[in-house]
Amino acid sequence: MKKVGIIGTGEYLPKKVLTNAALEKMVDTSDEWITTRTGIKERRMRAKNEATSDLACKAAKQALEDARLKPQDIDLIIVATITPDMPFPSVACLLQNALGATRAVCFDISAACAGFVYAISIARQFISRGAYKFALVVGAETLSTVTDWQDRNTCVLFGDGAGAVVLGEVKSGGILSAYLGSDGSKKDLLYIPAGGSRMPSTHQTVDERLHYIKMQGNELFKLAVTLMAEAAQVAIKEAGLECKDVDLVIPHQANIRIILAMAKKLKLPREKIYLNIEKYGNMSSASTATALCEAVKEGRVKKGDIVLLDAFGAGLVWGACIIKW
Ligand code: COA
Repeated sequence: MKKVGIIGTGEYLPKKVLTNAALEKMVDTSDEWITTRTGIKERRMRAKNEATSDLACKAAKQALEDARLKPQDIDLIIVATITPDMPFPSVACLLQNALGATRAVCFDISAACAGFVYAISIARQFISRGAYKFALVVGAETLSTVTDWQDRNTCVLFGDGAGAVVLGEVKSGGILSAYLGSDGSKKDLLYIPAGGSRMPSTHQTVDERLHYIKMQGNELFKLAVTLMAEAAQVAIKEAGLECKDVDLVIPHQANIRIILAMAKKLKLPREKIYLNIEKYGNMSSASTATALCEAVKEGRVKKGDIVLLDAFGAGLVWGACIIKW
């Protein structure tokens, strides 16, 4: 089995910033509530002409450049998203065309906020077994398109963005373990009721605002802390390591209180936790992806470091992986 690692990273955040102060004018909320309850100060919003694949393309180009590869070198493209440009074709196919990565096999995966960790785990299998040499894995979302801007329970939480990595064979280190979990019995805690085959789009579904995210935040909060901590513990153990060996945690950025409670369970100090929630809010699959990219850019990840990616989301789905940088 080949060792597989991340050989390039990239990100793209739309230019438009939506601050908590701006949200105060839209719904009955306050900067104080949002900051203390979530850790979020602002988030990015796509421009009207920016679809998920456009965000993905910009992040992907940066990751390819960082890996010193051309689009033609890529064998596999996986995009993790719950906000595709359209039901089909996949964002990955649209991205292939935009990049000119004509050799690549392309598909999307739907694993919500854990999508980036899921996609890394899938791509790793293909490369470690020698089926493909280079994979482009992207977490890209335009959650602003499925957010109910009249619902203060959810609209303060989400944002748009994209992060990308290139995976390839490495001489040492790389992805040491990847653990994934799912529980479909809790689907009602976080979902979009309409727009699929269960409830196809009608004037009524639109009038009833059923194409937007519905969430039971309280329940999710507790499950997120428990399942992210468990996922981390399994991935760390499978890598033959202990919690204290982790140099940097790149968690899914849903709520700073979830992240810090999870870190406490793992007895990991705050300095070892990478946070970008303040700037971007929850971008689902793009949160872990951009956090990893920014941590690398800022020099927070050094050669030989043990990095833990850890995520949780709608499904429910969760997952963690350990990467030796
Ligand atoms: N501004 C002001 N008040 C708000 C508000 C907002 N934006 N949103 C909710 N509230 C109110 C509620 O109406 C409630 O008021 P009430 O007590 O009068 O009924 C009160 O604040 C407390 O609500 P509660 O839901 O108990 O708050 P919380 O501490 O659980 O925080 C979340 C809410 C959503 C921030 C938190 O539950 C959370 O982050 N959950 C996880 C979400 C998540 O991870 N989702 C994605 C999974 S990847």
